[in-house]
Formats: sequence, C-alpha cells, structure tokens
Amino acid sequence: MAKKCPIGIFDSGVGGLSIAHGIRSELPSEDILYVADLGYSPYGSKAKEIIEDRSEYMVDYLCKQGCKVVVVACNTATVNSIAMLREKFDIPIVGVEPGIKPAAMQSSTGVIAVLATEQTIKSVSFQELKNRFSELVKIETRACPGLVELVESGNIHSKKSISVVSDYVVPLLSKGADRIVLGCTHFSFLAPVMEPILKDKARLVDTAKPVALEVKNQLTNHDLLRPCGVGEIQFCSTEMSANTSRKIGHLWGDKVDVLGI
Ligand code: DGL
Repeated sequence: MAKKCPIGIFDSGVGGLSIAHGIRSELPSEDILYVADLGYSPYGSKAKEIIEDRSEYMVDYLCKQGCKVVVVACNTATVNSIAMLREKFDIPIVGVEPGIKPAAMQSSTGVIAVLATEQTIKSVSFQELKNRFSELVKIETRACPGLVELVESGNIHSKKSISVVSDYVVPLLSKGADRIVLGCTHFSFLAPVMEPILKDKARLVDTAKPVALEVKNQLTNHDLLRPCGVGEIQFCSTEMSANTSRKIGHLWGDKVDVLGI
C-alpha cells in the first residue's frame, strides 16, 4: 500500500461530508475518495442486515479503488457493522460513534442527550456504549426520523427545519441536558439551526475532529501518511439525480463534479 493512495470515506449520503471536512483540515496533503450511498439512503430506518450488506459493498468498492484506509463516516453503519467489516477486510477501518464519553466528561448538570437514527439507538453496540457511562450521567436518547431527509433536501435553514429541530431539542433542555451529542453525521449540518435554540443552556458534541485525529493516528502507525503536496478530493454516488453535484458541492463549500458509480 502506497502513501499516495487515497483515504476512502463513505456514508449513506451527505452526512459524512462533515467528517470529510475534519479530515481535510487535519490532513490537507491526503487525497480523498468520498462515496455517498444515495441509492440506499437513509440507512437509519433500514434493517440491520441491509446496513451490513451496504457497508460491506462500500468498503469493498473503496478497497478496489486502492484506498489505504477506510472511514465509515456514518454512526448507523459503524455501530451495526464495524466488527464484521474489520473481520472481512485487511485494511485499517475507522468508524464514527456518538461522542457519549466527551459529553459525559464535560457535563455539569449530569444529564446529556444523544440525537441519532433509529438503527443507531436500537443497536447492541450503542446500548453497550451508553451503559458504560450511565452510572456517571443520565443519558437521554432520541431517534430523530426526518432529520436526515431534511439535510439531504438541502432545506437546512427553512422554517420547517427550525420547527422540527426544536421539537427534538427543546424537551431535552427541559430535562436538564447540557450536552447534546450529534450521533449522526448528517446532524452536524444542523448545528447552525440548533445552536440558537440551545442558547447558553447546552453545547453540541460533534465527532469530526476526534475521527480525523484517529485517521491520522492510523496512517502514522501504518507508515502511510503522505508527507507533502495538496490533496485532491473525488466525490461519487451510487445514485445520481439532476442536483446531486450541486447538493454535495453546497455542503462541501466548492463546485464539485460527482461521479455516478
Ligand atoms: N449519517 C449517518 C449516521 O451518522 C446515517 C444517516 C442515515 O442514512 O440514516 O448515522
């Protein structure tokens, strides 16, 4: 495996771009291959078996493209399939889990909340993670159907978006939560809508930075860090519509050409 090979990243859709942003700023010399599984989005309401099959397909695809490390930029795919992926593929695989640990460490009220997809909250691995910290803090969990679709639709700042987000967040503030864990990578793009609702009552906990540091760590340990140069990024999707490139480009912050695969 060569240092110049790309970092492979996948998610069901645009959510993993929040992780890709973190990786880009931490590792600017690295090439990135980002694949959105838009043909099967959202993952969060699908059966575990489908999430496992799709995750395996995506990692296999990224390996065949010569990626040196794969980032599962999706909490739902991570908690439902990362153990299986690590058994099947002989490549470093970095996952994304809800940041319960930092939230529990930072909380002053002793109450934290996790917003995630239905399949993340239901998963055994999420329940185990939650149990590890439930003696330290009270952990409120909320499956948030509709939020992934909201981000995918691009209507992040709409009146509907503010109202749907408030309906999830305000009751958690009433329960005393002072840390709100973004347990789905799509939700990072809703931070500008959530923060004015939280005011100074609570802070958001995002995992993009720790994930980027873990990718750096894995590359360093495997002697795969690209020492210099300016990295490029290629975006692909398993489904293309008229606005796929515009949608991804908008959240990436640049004009992009998405390749259908
Ligand atoms: N962005 C993903 C996550 O972090 C999945 C969202 C979905 O497809 O439901 O869970």
